[in-house]
Amino acid sequence: MKFSVSALGALGASTLLASGAAALDLQIDNSDSIKSTAKTLAAGLRKYYTGDKPGDTPGNLPDPYYWWECGAMFGALIDYWYYTGDTQYNAITVQAMEHQIGDYNAFMPPNQTKTLGNDDQAFWGMAAMSAAENKFPDPGGNQPSWLSLAQAVFNTQVVRWDPSTCGGGLRWQIFTFNNGYNYKNTISNGCFFNIAARLFKYTGNTTYSDWAEKMFAWELNVGLMSKDYHYFDGSDDTLNCTQINHIQWTYNAGVHMAGAAAMWNVTQSDVWKAHLTGIINGTSVFFSQDSPNVMFEVACESNGKCDVDQRSFKAYLSRWMGYTVKVAPWTRDMLMPKIQASAKAAAAQCNAGQTQDQCGLKWTNKGQNDGSFGVGEQMAALEIVQALLLDQVAGPVGEKSGGISKSNPSAGSESQDKPITFNAITTGDKAGAGFLTTLILIGIIGGAWWMVS
Ligand SMILES: *[C@@H]1O[C@H](CO)[C@@H](O)[C@H](O)[C@H]1NC(C)=O
Ligand SMILES: *[C@@H]1O[C@H](CO)[C@@H](O)[C@H](O)[C@H]1NC(C)=O
Ligand SMILES: *[C@@H]1O[C@H](CO)[C@@H](O)[C@H](O)[C@H]1NC(C)=O
Ligand SMILES: *[C@@H]1O[C@H](CO)[C@@H](O)[C@H](O)[C@H]1NC(C)=O
Ligand SMILES: *[C@@H]1O[C@H](CO)[C@@H](O)[C@H](O)[C@H]1NC(C)=O
Repeated sequence: MKFSVSALGALGASTLLASGAAALDLQIDNSDSIKSTAKTLAAGLRKYYTGDKPGDTPGNLPDPYYWWECGAMFGALIDYWYYTGDTQYNAITVQAMEHQIGDYNAFMPPNQTKTLGNDDQAFWGMAAMSAAENKFPDPGGNQPSWLSLAQAVFNTQVVRWDPSTCGGGLRWQIFTFNNGYNYKNTISNGCFFNIAARLFKYTGNTTYSDWAEKMFAWELNVGLMSKDYHYFDGSDDTLNCTQINHIQWTYNAGVHMAGAAAMWNVTQSDVWKAHLTGIINGTSVFFSQDSPNVMFEVACESNGKCDVDQRSFKAYLSRWMGYTVKVAPWTRDMLMPKIQASAKAAAAQCNAGQTQDQCGLKWTNKGQNDGSFGVGEQMAALEIVQALLLDQVAGPVGEKSGGISKSNPSAGSESQDKPITFNAITTGDKAGAGFLTTLILIGIIGGAWWMVS
């Protein structure tokens, strides 16, 4: 995840307002209507992607999108195929995922290594995990399986657990020379928790659940997560994590919700049931009172300061709410009203832009498109709409319940005794010029009420 200066101003600059076109006619109880809406939204998302064009790089989105968001987007398209059966994006998905496998078969491509955060790597890893869970066919040949790619992300990250500060946890950045190395952020740790819990559900291997438990306990202990399950952004490890940046994002709640749901699914324990109930309850901060049950990004939507990355975050809470209903069915009554109201509201404003089917950022705008267009806005609408199809699918598989992806528990572990490779000139470098550190971002939006614990 990166914070860019230009992105903060971009929202005001994109002024194409709602065109008056009819909104997508989404009927939330009709699977044909949902599928056709999802198809339109997916087509709108795909238009942003150029990586399959000759001379372009599979797995990269054009500026201003960072590499991680492309991994997130293919995660969304894997779910799109799973929910709808529409195979039209599978080929570009496989091409991109294979191209970005990189060193140790762990989504560490040399072009990205210089700016690689644990969260960036994990978004690709979570896409691979979804591919395994959804029975997206393994690439075959000499290519690593989807499951082994997720295992490799786990294995490369587990050795980065760093007890020298804050009693443990992962740092945001992987390499000492990167801005953000001293920040232990919740999304990096939360993605690790998510992958560990889902690997446990898939394989039954308790090494993964031990780490999921350990991560969850550490986050609570250090305060990245509060006792009432609010997730905060992160903490400076030069202060031993004694001060927490209390800003709350939808995606942090989302990655933990799915991980807790997976843990409950296998253990069926009261402890994980209570955690999951609490996480769902804690997400109330992201749902509007004014437009009941409609999701919004509380930290930046109303002040117009969501950057390019942040405009995609609702996609991940949406995705993981759908997953959660599937693997912890007793959460249905808590989550379905939120999924339904949010999907309806999201689709109602996907009626702008040249093709009159582009979505804006604000779902709480009562059908009025706010003129903020992009991969994040489009992906978020797609994820919430396709989650409505969860009753059409069987649920994520595991090794003993129909899984077809090959396991390789030691994937990626050779990273421990080999040097990292870098490419001299990278897209990451170009993107890097515009980075803001998290601390500056905090300065910009400081003092807002949601930062108070
Ligand atoms: C790395 O960058 C080069 C030059 O842009 C490109 O040709 C290559 O495909 C990239 N590799 C990956 C894995 O993105
Ligand atoms: C740093 O924080 C950890 C976790 O809260 C704690 O266990 C440790 O004692 C702290 N170290 C110092 C030097 O205060
Ligand atoms: C639900 O969330 C509210 C607001 O965060 C909190 O006050 C309450 O204690 C929570 N209830 C449960 C059962 O976690
Ligand atoms: C666990 O998740 C699977 C889907 O992955 C679902 O079919 C099953 O019913 C869930 N188990 C329980 C006890 O709810
Ligand atoms: C469980 O996972 C760990 C960590 O990847 C691995 O070392 C171990 O061999 C696995 N155990 C089995 C039985 O697959």
